[in-house]
Amino acid sequence: MLHDPNKVHIFDTTLRDGEQVPGCQLSTPQKIEIAKSLELLGVDVIEAGFPVSSPGDFNSVIELSKAVNDPIICALTRANKNDIDVAADALRYAKRPRIHTGIGSSDMHIKTKFNSTREEILERAIEAVKYAKKYVEDVEFYAEDAGRADIEYLAKMIEAVIAAGATVVNIPDTNGYCLPDQYGSKILYLKENVKNIDKAIISCHCHNDLGLATANSIAGLQNGARQVECTINGIGERAGNTSMEEVVMILKTHKSLGLHTHINTQGIYEISHQVRNLMNMPVQPNKAIVGANAFAHSSGIHQDGFLKNRENYEIIKPTDVGFPDATIVLTARSGRHALKHHLDRLGHTLDKEQLAIAYTAFLDLADSKQGINDDDLNQLVALHLATKLS
Ligand code: KIV
Ligand code: ZN
Repeated sequence: MLHDPNKVHIFDTTLRDGEQVPGCQLSTPQKIEIAKSLELLGVDVIEAGFPVSSPGDFNSVIELSKAVNDPIICALTRANKNDIDVAADALRYAKRPRIHTGIGSSDMHIKTKFNSTREEILERAIEAVKYAKKYVEDVEFYAEDAGRADIEYLAKMIEAVIAAGATVVNIPDTNGYCLPDQYGSKILYLKENVKNIDKAIISCHCHNDLGLATANSIAGLQNGARQVECTINGIGERAGNTSMEEVVMILKTHKSLGLHTHINTQGIYEISHQVRNLMNMPVQPNKAIVGANAFAHSSGIHQDGFLKNRENYEIIKPTDVGFPDATIVLTARSGRHALKHHLDRLGHTLDKEQLAIAYTAFLDLADSKQGINDDDLNQLVALHLATKLS
């Protein structure tokens, strides 16, 4: 059923799991703006919302369905008829609609969230998929808290929902609990033990409570999953979801994995900014791929190596993700090579002796000031070298 067995489908849930974060709520026009950017970026699926949760979410799914043409538009439901009826209604304008339904799969959820039994939950899962299937061909099933579920029960559930018509099976590590080898083994177990697994795409949905969401998603892909559920900047419940930019750039950087996405990586930095601005959610400066310091070199040893050959300290070209360029930041830890680089850039060509004078003056200044900018350098030259240069 997969056209390209090595293609990883990117399922973006910035507007659903991401938007659940307190303070990140968006208006429908803002969601449309982001959805259009996601379409340009080349995502395969946009999870547009949870229609039964509020009239605002219902309306957003309707409007996004109208506004977007290429990606699949997906709506979330719980495993009950009303949620599914409402989702199907909200998806009525979607060119490629998907209903994403599901239920808890761990004993913890079964007993303490649903006060139920494994047998009853299995029946509800099957019924939900069959019911969603009356409305749309494309039904994704999520086995919530699969990260902590008994693997044999999980396999039974996955086999049953595929038999009921699920086209995608989502194995969420809802609590960000698993280690990468545990999550990878879960996916492998399903690949090897679910008889009809070839009839569905396996999806990874990992949360970042232990900082392992991206690592777990990659482990899932290495073991046979072909969809990743992720968000821009990794935003999402608690510590967040898998970060889309990280997954996409890992697959691009590590060609040996033999997997690829259809993401236009040069649009990554722009959409990261759009999401941080519209959602009012700052990105930590050291965030991989999109943080302000992701391509900034500040220690003397790194700067010297970088200036000799960028690849000494650069595994991703900043322009590949739409970042303007790498920067050599001048601090008290910088060396002469970095200072010379900036002075040359500003048109001050110094000989060895002049550079030594400039460097001493620079260190004094850098010890007393956090960042050294172009004005500082011009002034430094004027103060300490004007007579020598003229
Ligand atoms: O984390 C989770 O389990 C979810 C499901 C609703 C897919 O977000
Ligand atoms: Zn989630």
